[in-house]
Amino acid sequence: MELRVLAVGDVVGEGGIDCLSRCLRPLKRLRGIDFTVVNGENAAGIGILPRQAQAIFDAGADVITLGNHSYGKGQIVPLLEEHRYLLRPANYTGRAPGRGTALYDLGRWSIRVINLQGRCNLDFNCDNPFTTADRILKEEEPAAFTLVDFHAEATSEKRALGYYLDGRVSALWGTHTHVQTADEQILPGGTGYLTDAGMTGPLRSVLGMPPEQSIEGFLGGIRGRHQTAPGPCAMQGVLFTLDESGRCSAVERVDVQ
Ligand SMILES: [Fe+2]
Repeated sequence: MELRVLAVGDVVGEGGIDCLSRCLRPLKRLRGIDFTVVNGENAAGIGILPRQAQAIFDAGADVITLGNHSYGKGQIVPLLEEHRYLLRPANYTGRAPGRGTALYDLGRWSIRVINLQGRCNLDFNCDNPFTTADRILKEEEPAAFTLVDFHAEATSEKRALGYYLDGRVSALWGTHTHVQTADEQILPGGTGYLTDAGMTGPLRSVLGMPPEQSIEGFLGGIRGRHQTAPGPCAMQGVLFTLDESGRCSAVERVDVQ
């Protein structure tokens, strides 16, 4: 018996949501995907609105994870408190609204999803993601499969957490940098791993924004209000096949255009 889990990289803007709505269900049917986790923290560019969270669920996501822009749109806060399928990083302090992990009972299987945020070249005010993962795995109810979305900037921090949790979680993937990496692998202890799942958003862009806007910022000019680049989008992610032991037996990058 196998469980096929799809992790989708950061959905950017309305174009990214449209792309997800168009591509996700056909892929789920084609590849027999049982469970889908989508990072949605850039659905509004910076943050996510309640209607966008609903659109991502309607597109076929089982769980939405977030990251450093979890509270970019304040309207999402009530939903973060109410909705068990919408997660913000677990290593936020106890003052932050919402939850960072939950157990989902699928009948035949139970799945725990953990959302964590890196601290290297990113935010500041989080607890240590490594020790937060330790605490969750020790104290929370265990599941047949444990999945981790590690929203982090540095490839070093992502790879280190992959090795640190190897054999203790079924799959770990990175989000946030929006450029899909090519290091998909099964770590020695059986954890499926990819440093970054990529982006679901505009192909001609820098992190989803128009290149010209990004270039202006790097030239030292005024970058201006965050915009999403127009044009064709891709849906990127990673597909993990997990076996009954909770380990990963196959990992494959996904890039649908
Ligand atoms: Fe991010």
